[in-house]
Amino acid sequence: LDAPDSDPREVAQQAAAVIAELTGVARHDIALTLGSGWGKAADELGETVALIPAAEIPGFSKPALAGHSGTIRSIRLANGKHALIIGARTHYYEGHGVRRVVHSVRTAAATGASIMVLTNGAGGLNPAWAPGTPVLIRDHINLTADSPLEGATFVDLTDLYSQRLRQLVHGIETLDEGVYVQFRGPHYETPAEVKMAGIIGGDIVGMSTALEAIAAREAGMEVLGLSLITNPAAGISPTPLNHEEVIAAGKAAEDRLARLLADAVTKVTSE
Ligand code: 6GU
Repeated sequence: LDAPDSDPREVAQQAAAVIAELTGVARHDIALTLGSGWGKAADELGETVALIPAAEIPGFSKPALAGHSGTIRSIRLANGKHALIIGARTHYYEGHGVRRVVHSVRTAAATGASIMVLTNGAGGLNPAWAPGTPVLIRDHINLTADSPLEGATFVDLTDLYSQRLRQLVHGIETLDEGVYVQFRGPHYETPAEVKMAGIIGGDIVGMSTALEAIAAREAGMEVLGLSLITNPAAGISPTPLNHEEVIAAGKAAEDRLARLLADAVTKVTSE
């Protein structure tokens, strides 16, 4: 995948072929990347057909963080549709390049999935968002100065976070929406950077999702983005941030999130 003369879409095709073989599922309908706080949702979705260590699939690397499981799971939903659960996110801040970051999304597209659900744990700029609040991503600002697209690939990003899918989720539970700002990380932002994110139109700060959404659009998928606000961003609340707080907020919200996500997946695959 990393060799400059390799074609990342071809590696994704190989990965999808391995997934089809190991799951016995020729075609998946929807794919979900589960970020901090969203992990429990997989258990509520349906019957697990196969659980594959990501390391067995071409192009996937080992997980860097505890709490990121490093598995690909195939689930059969009650409506007979097939969901691919990506519990093996590679973050941009790991420094292995953007191809690795979006490989799971390209693989999901290659398995046949037409809807990509991207979830994350993130910091909130709106002081009304208590830790544990889920927010729908309406749009993003990519501050990584990078792109998953290579060469002259001029992809339109209007309605990247599908209004149609957002409306379906609002039909389950009315959620606030926000503009997600992807920073490189892995450090959290300074208060001045958070202030800047707000001035340029951002509501949510995080270290994932935007690059993945771009790759999903390039691959022709419809994108649904959900952030769990795990904490107020720096300068919004008087207390400093720590990773344990992020994990704890996820734990506390996970039952509600699992139900929300399971309902959303049922709804968008039944349309
Ligand atoms: Cl405050 N910033 C970023 N970039 N990611 C986060 C976060 C903040 N809180 C949770 N994840």
